Amino acid sequence: VDKRSFIKKSVLLGMGLPLFLESLAKNFEQVKGTDAFDLASEDEFWAKIRNDYILKQDYINLENGYYCMLPHPLLNQYIEHVKEVNLHASYYMRKKQGQDKKRIAKNLSELAHCSEEELIITRNATESLDLVINGFKWQKGDEAIMAEQDYGSMLDMFKLMEGKYGIVSKRVSIPNDPSNDEEIVRLYESQITSKTRLIMICHMVNISGHILPVRKICDMAHAHNVEVMVDGAHSFAHIPCSMKELDCDYFGTSLHKWLNAPLGNGMLYIKKEKIAKLWPLFAESPKSEDDIMRLNHTGTTPVHTILGIQDAIDYHEVIGLDRKNQRLRFLQRYWTDKIRSHPKIVLNTPEDPMRSCAIANVGIKGIPPKELANILLDKYGIWTVAINRPSVEGCRITPNIYTSIKELDSLVSALKAIAEG
Ligand SMILES: Cc1ncc(COP(=O)(O)O)c(C=O)c1O
Repeated sequence: VDKRSFIKKSVLLGMGLPLFLESLAKNFEQVKGTDAFDLASEDEFWAKIRNDYILKQDYINLENGYYCMLPHPLLNQYIEHVKEVNLHASYYMRKKQGQDKKRIAKNLSELAHCSEEELIITRNATESLDLVINGFKWQKGDEAIMAEQDYGSMLDMFKLMEGKYGIVSKRVSIPNDPSNDEEIVRLYESQITSKTRLIMICHMVNISGHILPVRKICDMAHAHNVEVMVDGAHSFAHIPCSMKELDCDYFGTSLHKWLNAPLGNGMLYIKKEKIAKLWPLFAESPKSEDDIMRLNHTGTTPVHTILGIQDAIDYHEVIGLDRKNQRLRFLQRYWTDKIRSHPKIVLNTPEDPMRSCAIANVGIKGIPPKELANILLDKYGIWTVAINRPSVEGCRITPNIYTSIKELDSLVSALKAIAEG
């Protein structure tokens, strides 16, 4: 029996689930008639889900954007995988790891709405996206378009390509409050020339939480014969992410961020007809040019980490993307709505609720981001991260589903107190 269909069916029937999912499923079974939007604000309900997390008592963690700790049912499963692989050692590696990895990649491809022939498991978003940037068959003078607000490692990788192949990278600057999707689409389009080969876009900009209109950018780029690579580090398992619907050419993400897989898991999607166009990073024994496994040779890896992906998928299915997405958006709007109009507070995240989800960025006039992050931690026990980038200067605030309203009230009081200084 296909394990994923089994979990889905069991969730629907509310029975026969693996032990580690039972309590989570019971909690959701009790609210099965409640609309996801209405459930999002039921803090008493989410307090039960919070019990799955072992949280430090000495600070409020509002930096789940880097990595979110595993809830203990997933942590226990992970530890069991470490023991299991260690017990069977080379027997596992030779006899089972290949089929396990294949099965998990297939289940991931169902979650991403693509074919299993278009997806590989990597170690993180960096590996996924750099595989594409580095593997692209660049010619001197080729152009790539990206944004000043993109993730540093990918911008650095394009710089490397400038030195290695003589490509030209062009940067746009994404406005925090666009008047509509077309404004963003035109911004990227304005940089296209006959030499443009690739556009890199963030699905959700990590420093501001801004969700970009990926499908519209892809349609525009394809009309110009330009390919699009999506940095989905923050969108996968956070907001709807269907490869079919996005119609991008490449999509890379980390699975240790919003899917809650163990650290060191990522995924790369490549549209079938683009696979043959990339050079692999590490040589692999001859395979057909359009076999995606040609790009996935990384030697001996910590396979127990990959086994944790399946548990994370199952856990995610029990929660349900819609319920997770609504809860995360509710939490962000809860605190941002309370301070949006404060004269000394600046929100570096779109006001339109459909242009962001869990992540938002807040600054206070006259206080450098680093200082703000230090005050929040030292004086108010709130852990965030300072961001000092073009048009995004402030602290990134990232709750996760376990975050309580009480914690967000503490953030709001702290921000107001600091602003009123
Ligand atoms: C937008 C974006 N892209 C890529 C990455 C890289 O992710 P990782 O470090 O898991 O490879 C991050 C990490 O925070 C990110 O925010």
